[in-house]
Amino acid sequence: MFALPVAATVVAALAGFAVGYPTPVCTNSFVTVTASATNYDLSNGTLPPAATVPVSGTYSIQLRYCKPTLPVPSRANSLQVLVHGLTYNTNYWDIPYKPDTYSYARWAAFNGYATLNMARLGYGNSSHPDPVTVVQDPMDTAIVTKIVELARAGGIPGAGKSFSKIIYAGHSYGSLILNGIMAATPSLVNAAVLSGYSHEVGTGVPTIIAGMAPAATVDPARFGSLPPGYMTTINSTTRAAAFYGPTGSYESGALAYDESTKDTATLGEFITFPATLVPAPSFTGDVLTINGDHDLVFCTTTDCANGSAGSSYYPAANSVEYIVIPVTGHCLNFHHTAPLTYLKIQQWLNAHGY
Ligand SMILES: *[C@@H]1O[C@H](CO)[C@@H](O)[C@H](O)[C@H]1NC(C)=O
Ligand SMILES: *[C@@H]1O[C@H](CO)[C@@H](O)[C@H](O)[C@H]1NC(C)=O
Ligand SMILES: *[C@@H]1O[C@H](CO)[C@@H](O)[C@H](O)[C@H]1NC(C)=O
Ligand SMILES: *[C@@H]1O[C@H](CO)[C@@H](O)[C@H](O)[C@H]1NC(C)=O
Repeated sequence: MFALPVAATVVAALAGFAVGYPTPVCTNSFVTVTASATNYDLSNGTLPPAATVPVSGTYSIQLRYCKPTLPVPSRANSLQVLVHGLTYNTNYWDIPYKPDTYSYARWAAFNGYATLNMARLGYGNSSHPDPVTVVQDPMDTAIVTKIVELARAGGIPGAGKSFSKIIYAGHSYGSLILNGIMAATPSLVNAAVLSGYSHEVGTGVPTIIAGMAPAATVDPARFGSLPPGYMTTINSTTRAAAFYGPTGSYESGALAYDESTKDTATLGEFITFPATLVPAPSFTGDVLTINGDHDLVFCTTTDCANGSAGSSYYPAANSVEYIVIPVTGHCLNFHHTAPLTYLKIQQWLNAHGY
Protein backbone atom coordinates (compact mmCIF):
# COMPACT_ATOMS: atom_id res chain seq x y z
CA MET A 1 0.00 0.00 0.00
CA PHE A 2 2.78 2.35 0.87
CA ALA A 3 5.56 1.21 -1.43
CA LEU A 4 3.52 1.32 -4.59
CA PRO A 5 2.74 5.06 -4.84
CA VAL A 6 6.29 5.93 -3.88
CA ALA A 7 7.78 3.72 -6.56
CA ALA A 8 5.34 5.13 -9.12
CA THR A 9 6.22 8.67 -8.07
CA VAL A 10 9.94 8.05 -8.45
CA VAL A 11 9.57 6.50 -11.87
CA ALA A 12 7.52 9.51 -12.93
CA ALA A 13 10.04 11.94 -11.45
CA LEU A 14 12.94 10.23 -13.18
CA ALA A 15 11.04 10.31 -16.45
CA GLY A 16 10.70 14.07 -16.14
CA PHE A 17 6.98 14.34 -15.34
CA ALA A 18 5.89 17.07 -13.00
CA VAL A 19 5.11 15.44 -9.68
CA GLY A 20 3.75 17.19 -6.64
CA TYR A 21 4.56 16.06 -3.16
CA PRO A 22 2.48 17.41 -0.31
CA THR A 23 4.17 20.26 1.56
CA PRO A 24 5.05 19.02 5.04
CA VAL A 25 3.85 20.79 8.16
CA CYS A 26 7.04 22.16 9.74
CA THR A 27 8.02 24.00 12.90
CA ASN A 28 10.88 26.49 12.70
CA SER A 29 12.50 27.15 16.06
CA PHE A 30 15.63 28.01 17.95
CA VAL A 31 16.93 25.88 20.79
CA THR A 32 19.53 26.91 23.33
CA VAL A 33 22.35 24.39 23.48
CA THR A 34 25.10 24.35 26.08
CA ALA A 35 28.07 22.24 25.03
CA SER A 36 31.73 21.76 25.80
CA ALA A 37 34.52 20.16 23.83
CA THR A 38 38.28 20.00 23.58
CA ASN A 39 39.30 22.08 20.57
CA TYR A 40 42.66 22.58 18.90
CA ASP A 41 45.13 25.41 19.41
CA LEU A 42 45.22 26.87 15.89
CA SER A 43 47.43 29.84 16.74
CA ASN A 44 50.05 28.59 14.23
CA GLY A 45 47.42 28.16 11.50
CA THR A 46 47.99 24.40 11.34
CA LEU A 47 46.52 21.35 13.03
CA PRO A 48 48.57 20.36 16.08
CA PRO A 49 48.86 16.64 16.91
CA ALA A 50 46.34 16.80 19.77
CA ALA A 51 43.32 18.79 20.88
CA THR A 52 44.21 20.56 24.11
CA VAL A 53 41.94 23.60 24.51
CA PRO A 54 38.78 23.17 26.58
CA VAL A 55 35.92 25.27 25.17
CA SER A 56 32.35 25.60 26.29
CA GLY A 57 29.46 27.86 25.50
CA THR A 58 25.73 28.35 25.20
CA TYR A 59 24.49 28.88 21.67
CA SER A 60 21.25 29.38 19.79
CA ILE A 61 20.72 26.73 17.10
CA GLN A 62 18.17 27.05 14.31
CA LEU A 63 15.99 23.95 13.79
CA ARG A 64 13.25 22.94 11.38
CA TYR A 65 11.17 19.93 12.33
CA CYS A 66 8.78 18.54 9.69
CA LYS A 67 6.06 15.95 10.17
CA PRO A 68 5.51 13.08 7.76
CA THR A 69 2.99 13.83 5.01
CA LEU A 70 2.14 10.15 4.51
CA PRO A 71 2.26 8.55 7.96
CA VAL A 72 3.72 5.04 8.09
CA PRO A 73 3.01 3.33 11.45
CA SER A 74 6.32 1.45 11.55
CA ARG A 75 8.14 4.80 11.21
CA ALA A 76 6.16 6.65 13.89
CA ASN A 77 9.10 6.66 16.31
CA SER A 78 11.79 7.25 13.70
CA LEU A 79 13.43 10.58 13.02
CA GLN A 80 15.71 11.51 10.15
CA VAL A 81 18.28 14.04 11.37
CA LEU A 82 19.58 16.02 8.37
CA VAL A 83 22.95 17.74 8.73
CA HIS A 84 24.49 19.96 6.04
CA GLY A 85 28.13 20.50 5.13
CA LEU A 86 30.37 23.54 4.65
CA THR A 87 28.82 26.64 2.98
CA TYR A 88 25.28 25.21 3.24
CA ASN A 89 22.50 25.51 5.80
CA THR A 90 18.91 24.26 6.18
CA ASN A 91 18.54 24.72 2.41
CA TYR A 92 20.77 21.75 1.56
CA TRP A 93 18.40 18.99 2.66
CA ASP A 94 15.25 21.00 1.90
CA ILE A 95 16.07 22.90 -1.30
CA PRO A 96 13.27 25.40 -2.03
CA TYR A 97 14.20 25.50 -5.75
CA LYS A 98 11.91 22.94 -7.46
CA PRO A 99 11.39 21.13 -4.15
CA ASP A 100 9.56 18.21 -5.72
CA THR A 101 12.83 17.32 -7.40
CA TYR A 102 15.45 18.57 -4.97
CA SER A 103 14.00 18.61 -1.43
CA TYR A 104 15.06 15.49 0.43
CA ALA A 105 12.96 16.62 3.41
CA ARG A 106 9.79 16.48 1.26
CA TRP A 107 10.78 13.13 -0.11
CA ALA A 108 11.38 11.73 3.39
CA ALA A 109 8.09 13.19 4.67
CA PHE A 110 6.22 11.44 1.84
CA ASN A 111 7.95 8.20 2.82
CA GLY A 112 6.62 8.45 6.34
CA TYR A 113 9.52 10.05 8.20
CA ALA A 114 9.65 13.03 10.50
CA THR A 115 12.76 15.10 9.76
CA LEU A 116 14.91 17.39 11.85
CA ASN A 117 16.88 19.83 9.73
CA MET A 118 19.24 22.33 11.30
CA ALA A 119 21.67 25.16 10.66
CA ARG A 120 24.80 24.11 12.53
CA LEU A 121 26.81 26.39 14.81
CA GLY A 122 28.09 29.27 12.64
CA TYR A 123 25.47 28.76 9.88
CA GLY A 124 22.11 30.20 8.87
CA ASN A 125 20.54 32.01 11.81
CA SER A 126 22.34 29.98 14.47
CA SER A 127 24.95 31.68 16.69
CA HIS A 128 28.20 32.74 14.98
CA PRO A 129 30.96 32.49 17.60
CA ASP A 130 34.70 32.82 16.91
CA PRO A 131 35.43 31.04 13.58
CA VAL A 132 38.92 29.93 14.58
CA THR A 133 38.86 29.08 18.28
CA VAL A 134 35.23 27.89 18.69
CA VAL A 135 33.72 26.63 15.41
CA GLN A 136 35.97 23.58 15.01
CA ASP A 137 35.21 19.92 14.46
CA PRO A 138 35.18 18.93 18.18
CA MET A 139 32.72 21.69 19.18
CA ASP A 140 30.60 21.10 16.05
CA THR A 141 30.37 17.41 16.95
CA ALA A 142 29.46 18.25 20.56
CA ILE A 143 26.61 20.55 19.43
CA VAL A 144 25.08 18.05 16.99
CA THR A 145 25.41 15.31 19.64
CA LYS A 146 23.38 17.48 22.03
CA ILE A 147 20.67 18.03 19.42
CA VAL A 148 20.33 14.31 18.68
CA GLU A 149 20.15 13.66 22.44
CA LEU A 150 17.42 16.31 22.66
CA ALA A 151 15.47 14.53 19.90
CA ARG A 152 15.75 11.19 21.71
CA ALA A 153 14.56 12.89 24.91
CA GLY A 154 11.51 14.50 23.28
CA GLY A 155 12.74 18.10 23.32
CA ILE A 156 12.43 19.14 19.66
CA PRO A 157 9.94 22.01 19.23
CA GLY A 158 6.97 20.89 17.14
CA ALA A 159 7.61 17.18 17.64
CA GLY A 160 5.88 16.80 20.99
CA LYS A 161 7.38 13.34 21.40
CA SER A 162 10.62 11.40 21.77
CA PHE A 163 12.19 9.29 19.04
CA SER A 164 13.69 5.85 19.59
CA LYS A 165 15.16 5.32 16.12
CA ILE A 166 17.54 7.90 14.71
CA ILE A 167 18.48 7.90 11.05
CA TYR A 168 21.22 10.49 10.59
CA ALA A 169 21.78 11.68 7.02
CA GLY A 170 24.87 13.84 6.70
CA HIS A 171 26.36 15.67 3.78
CA SER A 172 30.12 16.23 3.63
CA TYR A 173 31.19 17.92 6.89
CA GLY A 174 27.78 16.87 8.30
CA SER A 175 28.88 13.28 7.56
CA LEU A 176 32.25 13.92 9.14
CA ILE A 177 30.41 14.93 12.32
CA LEU A 178 28.27 11.80 12.02
CA ASN A 179 31.42 9.69 11.78
CA GLY A 180 32.69 11.40 14.94
CA ILE A 181 29.41 10.60 16.73
CA MET A 182 29.56 6.96 15.57
CA ALA A 183 33.05 6.78 17.10
CA ALA A 184 32.43 8.66 20.34
CA THR A 185 28.74 7.97 21.10
CA PRO A 186 28.00 4.84 19.08
CA SER A 187 24.50 4.14 20.44
CA LEU A 188 23.15 7.60 19.59
CA VAL A 189 22.44 6.79 15.93
CA ASN A 190 20.78 3.66 14.50
CA ALA A 191 21.27 4.22 10.78
CA ALA A 192 24.13 6.25 9.34
CA VAL A 193 23.81 7.76 5.87
CA LEU A 194 27.14 9.36 4.98
CA SER A 195 26.78 11.33 1.74
CA GLY A 196 29.55 13.33 0.08
CA TYR A 197 32.05 11.64 2.36
CA SER A 198 34.80 9.10 2.54
CA HIS A 199 37.78 8.53 4.77
CA GLU A 200 40.15 9.85 2.14
CA VAL A 201 40.55 13.50 1.26
CA GLY A 202 40.12 14.06 -2.48
CA THR A 203 42.65 15.53 -4.85
CA GLY A 204 40.49 18.60 -5.52
CA VAL A 205 40.73 20.09 -2.03
CA PRO A 206 43.57 22.60 -2.71
CA THR A 207 41.64 23.97 -5.72
CA ILE A 208 38.49 24.20 -3.62
CA ILE A 209 40.25 26.16 -0.89
CA ALA A 210 41.81 28.46 -3.52
CA GLY A 211 38.28 29.24 -4.74
CA MET A 212 37.20 30.58 -1.33
CA ALA A 213 37.63 33.96 0.35
CA PRO A 214 36.43 35.77 3.48
CA ALA A 215 32.63 35.88 3.21
CA ALA A 216 32.50 39.54 4.30
CA THR A 217 34.50 40.43 1.17
CA VAL A 218 32.58 38.12 -1.18
CA ASP A 219 29.11 39.37 -0.18
CA PRO A 220 29.21 42.36 2.19
CA ALA A 221 25.42 42.71 2.11
CA ARG A 222 24.87 39.23 3.56
CA PHE A 223 28.08 38.56 5.47
CA GLY A 224 29.60 41.98 6.15
CA SER A 225 29.36 41.61 9.92
CA LEU A 226 31.32 38.33 10.06
CA PRO A 227 35.02 38.13 10.93
CA PRO A 228 37.41 37.00 8.14
CA GLY A 229 37.58 33.43 9.49
CA TYR A 230 34.09 32.93 8.02
CA MET A 231 34.78 31.97 4.39
CA THR A 232 32.70 31.17 1.34
CA THR A 233 33.09 30.31 -2.34
CA ILE A 234 34.07 33.36 -4.43
CA ASN A 235 31.44 33.02 -7.17
CA SER A 236 29.33 30.48 -9.03
CA THR A 237 32.32 29.44 -11.15
CA THR A 238 34.48 28.45 -8.20
CA ARG A 239 31.43 26.95 -6.48
CA ALA A 240 30.64 24.76 -9.48
CA ALA A 241 34.29 23.74 -9.80
CA ALA A 242 34.39 22.74 -6.13
CA PHE A 243 31.07 21.00 -5.59
CA TYR A 244 29.42 20.11 -8.92
CA GLY A 245 29.87 17.47 -11.58
CA PRO A 246 30.45 18.21 -15.28
CA THR A 247 28.36 20.74 -17.22
CA GLY A 248 25.04 19.08 -17.93
CA SER A 249 24.95 17.16 -14.65
CA TYR A 250 22.95 19.97 -13.03
CA GLU A 251 20.51 22.71 -13.99
CA SER A 252 21.98 26.20 -14.27
CA GLY A 253 18.97 27.33 -12.21
CA ALA A 254 19.95 24.96 -9.40
CA LEU A 255 23.49 26.36 -9.30
CA ALA A 256 22.15 29.93 -9.45
CA TYR A 257 19.82 29.21 -6.53
CA ASP A 258 22.67 27.61 -4.58
CA GLU A 259 24.96 30.57 -5.29
CA SER A 260 22.35 33.11 -4.20
CA THR A 261 21.67 31.34 -0.90
CA LYS A 262 25.15 29.98 -0.16
CA ASP A 263 26.36 30.08 3.42
CA THR A 264 29.83 30.22 4.96
CA ALA A 265 32.34 27.84 6.56
CA THR A 266 34.99 28.57 9.15
CA LEU A 267 38.75 28.47 9.02
CA GLY A 268 38.56 26.37 12.20
CA GLU A 269 36.53 23.76 10.33
CA PHE A 270 38.88 23.69 7.33
CA ILE A 271 41.90 23.09 9.55
CA THR A 272 40.35 20.63 12.03
CA PHE A 273 38.29 18.39 9.75
CA PRO A 274 40.73 15.44 10.02
CA ALA A 275 39.78 15.23 13.74
CA THR A 276 36.84 12.89 13.15
CA LEU A 277 38.13 10.99 10.08
CA VAL A 278 38.50 8.12 12.52
CA PRO A 279 37.37 4.49 12.82
CA ALA A 280 34.15 3.81 14.74
CA PRO A 281 34.93 0.33 16.10
CA SER A 282 31.91 0.14 18.46
CA PHE A 283 29.21 1.29 16.06
CA THR A 284 26.69 -1.56 15.65
CA GLY A 285 24.05 0.06 13.43
CA ASP A 286 23.78 0.17 9.64
CA VAL A 287 26.07 2.26 7.47
CA LEU A 288 25.48 3.61 3.97
CA THR A 289 28.02 5.75 2.15
CA ILE A 290 26.65 7.44 -0.96
CA ASN A 291 28.76 9.62 -3.25
CA GLY A 292 28.75 11.19 -6.67
CA ASP A 293 31.31 9.68 -9.02
CA HIS A 294 32.72 13.20 -9.65
CA ASP A 295 33.20 14.13 -5.97
CA LEU A 296 36.51 16.01 -5.73
CA VAL A 297 36.28 16.77 -2.03
CA PHE A 298 36.35 13.36 -0.44
CA CYS A 299 37.05 10.86 -3.16
CA THR A 300 40.02 9.94 -5.19
CA THR A 301 38.97 8.13 -8.36
CA THR A 302 39.80 4.75 -6.87
CA ASP A 303 38.01 5.44 -3.62
CA CYS A 304 34.72 6.50 -5.17
CA ALA A 305 34.75 3.98 -7.96
CA ASN A 306 35.14 0.84 -5.91
CA GLY A 307 33.82 1.66 -2.50
CA SER A 308 36.47 -0.28 -0.63
CA ALA A 309 37.35 2.63 1.61
CA GLY A 310 35.01 2.44 4.55
CA SER A 311 34.21 -1.06 5.72
CA SER A 312 37.36 -1.35 7.79
CA TYR A 313 36.26 1.72 9.76
CA TYR A 314 33.07 0.02 11.01
CA PRO A 315 34.09 -3.53 12.00
CA ALA A 316 31.13 -4.05 14.39
CA ALA A 317 28.44 -2.53 12.15
CA ASN A 318 25.37 -4.59 11.33
CA SER A 319 25.91 -3.73 7.67
CA VAL A 320 28.19 -1.50 5.60
CA GLU A 321 27.17 -0.57 2.06
CA TYR A 322 28.39 1.84 -0.57
CA ILE A 323 26.59 3.44 -3.51
CA VAL A 324 28.08 5.60 -6.27
CA ILE A 325 25.72 7.93 -8.17
CA PRO A 326 26.82 8.47 -11.78
CA VAL A 327 27.52 11.88 -13.37
CA THR A 328 27.25 13.66 -10.03
CA GLY A 329 29.57 15.88 -8.02
CA HIS A 330 30.00 16.55 -4.32
CA CYS A 331 26.71 18.37 -3.62
CA LEU A 332 24.52 15.45 -4.68
CA ASN A 333 21.21 17.12 -3.82
CA PHE A 334 21.72 19.91 -6.39
CA HIS A 335 22.23 17.53 -9.33
CA HIS A 336 19.80 16.10 -11.90
CA THR A 337 20.33 12.79 -10.12
CA ALA A 338 18.91 14.03 -6.77
CA PRO A 339 15.74 11.87 -7.14
CA LEU A 340 17.95 8.85 -7.86
CA THR A 341 20.06 9.56 -4.76
CA TYR A 342 16.88 9.84 -2.66
CA LEU A 343 15.48 6.63 -4.13
CA LYS A 344 18.73 4.76 -3.39
CA ILE A 345 18.73 5.99 0.21
CA GLN A 346 15.09 4.95 0.59
CA GLN A 347 15.72 1.50 -0.90
CA TRP A 348 18.58 1.06 1.56
CA LEU A 349 16.35 2.16 4.47
CA ASN A 350 13.63 -0.26 3.32
CA ALA A 351 16.10 -3.11 3.00
CA HIS A 352 17.32 -2.61 6.57
CA GLY A 353 13.93 -2.27 8.20
CA TYR A 354 13.93 1.47 8.77
C1 LIG B 1 53.62 26.54 16.99
O1 LIG B 1 54.88 26.51 16.36
C2 LIG B 1 55.98 26.49 17.28
C3 LIG B 1 57.27 26.59 16.48
O2 LIG B 1 57.31 25.60 15.48
C4 LIG B 1 55.91 25.23 18.13
O3 LIG B 1 56.96 25.21 19.07
C5 LIG B 1 54.56 25.19 18.85
O4 LIG B 1 54.43 23.96 19.54
C6 LIG B 1 53.43 25.32 17.87
N1 LIG B 1 52.18 25.42 18.61
C7 LIG B 1 51.08 24.79 18.21
C8 LIG B 1 49.89 24.98 19.08
O5 LIG B 1 51.02 24.12 17.20
C1 LIG C 1 17.52 33.83 8.66
O1 LIG C 1 16.56 34.82 9.00
C2 LIG C 1 16.28 35.75 7.96
C3 LIG C 1 15.37 36.80 8.53
O2 LIG C 1 14.23 36.22 9.11
C4 LIG C 1 15.68 35.00 6.78
O3 LIG C 1 15.43 35.90 5.72
C5 LIG C 1 16.64 33.92 6.32
O4 LIG C 1 16.05 33.15 5.30
C6 LIG C 1 17.02 33.00 7.48
N1 LIG C 1 18.06 32.08 7.05
C7 LIG C 1 17.90 30.76 7.04
C8 LIG C 1 19.04 29.95 6.55
O5 LIG C 1 16.87 30.21 7.41
C1 LIG D 1 35.18 33.90 -10.25
O1 LIG D 1 36.30 34.06 -9.42
C2 LIG D 1 37.50 33.62 -10.04
C3 LIG D 1 38.60 33.66 -9.00
O2 LIG D 1 38.70 34.96 -8.43
C4 LIG D 1 37.79 34.51 -11.25
O3 LIG D 1 38.96 34.06 -11.89
C5 LIG D 1 36.61 34.39 -12.21
O4 LIG D 1 36.79 35.30 -13.28
C6 LIG D 1 35.30 34.71 -11.52
N1 LIG D 1 34.22 34.38 -12.40
C7 LIG D 1 33.16 35.16 -12.56
C8 LIG D 1 32.11 34.68 -13.49
O5 LIG D 1 33.04 36.22 -11.96
C1 LIG E 1 39.92 -0.23 -4.77
O1 LIG E 1 40.53 0.65 -3.83
C2 LIG E 1 41.55 0.09 -3.08
C3 LIG E 1 41.97 1.06 -1.99
O2 LIG E 1 42.14 2.36 -2.50
C4 LIG E 1 42.69 -0.31 -4.02
O3 LIG E 1 43.73 -0.93 -3.30
C5 LIG E 1 42.13 -1.32 -5.05
O4 LIG E 1 43.13 -1.61 -6.01
C6 LIG E 1 40.93 -0.75 -5.77
N1 LIG E 1 40.30 -1.78 -6.60
C7 LIG E 1 39.91 -1.56 -7.85
C8 LIG E 1 39.25 -2.72 -8.53
O5 LIG E 1 40.04 -0.48 -8.39
